[in-house]
Amino acid sequence: MKDLLIYKCEVCGYILEVIDLGKKQLIESGTSFARTITVADAKLICCGKPMTLVQANSVDASNEKHVPIIEFGNDTAVVKVGSISHPMTPEHFIKWITILYGDRIQRVELEPGDTPEASFHIGNESNVKAYAYCNLHGLWMSSASRQK
Ligand SMILES: [Fe+2]
Repeated sequence: MKDLLIYKCEVCGYILEVIDLGKKQLIESGTSFARTITVADAKLICCGKPMTLVQANSVDASNEKHVPIIEFGNDTAVVKVGSISHPMTPEHFIKWITILYGDRIQRVELEPGDTPEASFHIGNESNVKAYAYCNLHGLWMSSASRQK
């Protein structure tokens, strides 16, 4: 299954998502999230500086409040951000939750005051990757498989 590949401008917060790598190569190593995108890296410029490829789960912050929890329903996946709910104040909140499953992607955008969770219709898909983006602590990811 693909990873969510996003680049961020560290100056203004602008975020770009890579939809198609074209002829560029993605190399994943084992089960870690380490990866190398040949050629593509550091070619995107914003505010006069190279944009950075955002690595999930790389910021030193509370895992309990950031790692997405995936719960399967009959034809849904509910993603809750954190085993302890993440704050949703104007200063510190989850901006969006994205899931990848099969050949599909879905995203729900959140606002301060919302509950840090989202429900996705996934049919009978059994493998899901979930990403959550905190405005202060960046990108967090987890994956889960439906128990049969
Ligand atoms: Fe956070």
